[in-house]
Amino acid sequence: MPTNKPKIIIANWKMNPASFDEADILINSIKKGLKDLNNIKIVICPPFIYIPRIKTNSSFEIGVQNIFWEDSGAYTGEISPRMARNIGANYAIIGHSERRNYLGENDRIVNLKIKAALNNNLKAILCVGETREERDAEKAKEVISNQIEKNLKDIPKSYFANNKIIIAYEPIWAIGTGETPLPDEIMSMDILIRKIIAKLYDRETADKLYVLYGGSVNSKNALDFVDKAKMNGLLIGGASLNAGEFLRIVGLLG
Ligand code: PGA
Repeated sequence: MPTNKPKIIIANWKMNPASFDEADILINSIKKGLKDLNNIKIVICPPFIYIPRIKTNSSFEIGVQNIFWEDSGAYTGEISPRMARNIGANYAIIGHSERRNYLGENDRIVNLKIKAALNNNLKAILCVGETREERDAEKAKEVISNQIEKNLKDIPKSYFANNKIIIAYEPIWAIGTGETPLPDEIMSMDILIRKIIAKLYDRETADKLYVLYGGSVNSKNALDFVDKAKMNGLLIGGASLNAGEFLRIVGLLG
């Protein structure tokens, strides 16, 4: 498993903060506190409306937290991958459990969105994860296998070139709860994810894949996931809204 390639840290701001001013303060504090980045890539995923401001005020790579799957048309309230790209985003988080749960995004929709992202030159960060009930029933591996197979249906191997598809393992029971899996458990999920990719594509694609961990990451546990569990990076929610805490995590990895 590749361990010496650059680590990726994705900051998922979700539906925060409440104003432009607060978004400015957050991004400026992160910018100010950053030391030289050593073998680490940061992607900030703010709410759509803050993206132009952040693009103007910083040089961070930008991701969106969602996209629609069509390029344009009568889809009230939606933002197309082409718009996301035109506004300066390079990444799109797709299939986050909050969207699957609160907005009814199913595997078919996630699959369409991944294709739409890649067709518009956005790298797709596919989120997969099991619920607590599924974990307790020892169904986590089956759930993850199923999600990946359905979410990547009919996606050709060429789409994986240059790490255009990233998989984030985010156990739903760990998101925003302060609970996390043990490094060993994450490692066995990483092995499973690569095994599925090797089966669907080939071993080389599986070995090159970036697999991230997300769910209650903070500066106290970040190294468990990266050093012990050997993940290729982190997807950070709550802790990315606190500049000091976010910078501490970046400092540990960089
Ligand atoms: P959290 O969120 O770090 O607040 O647990 C992670 C995520 O949902 O991506």
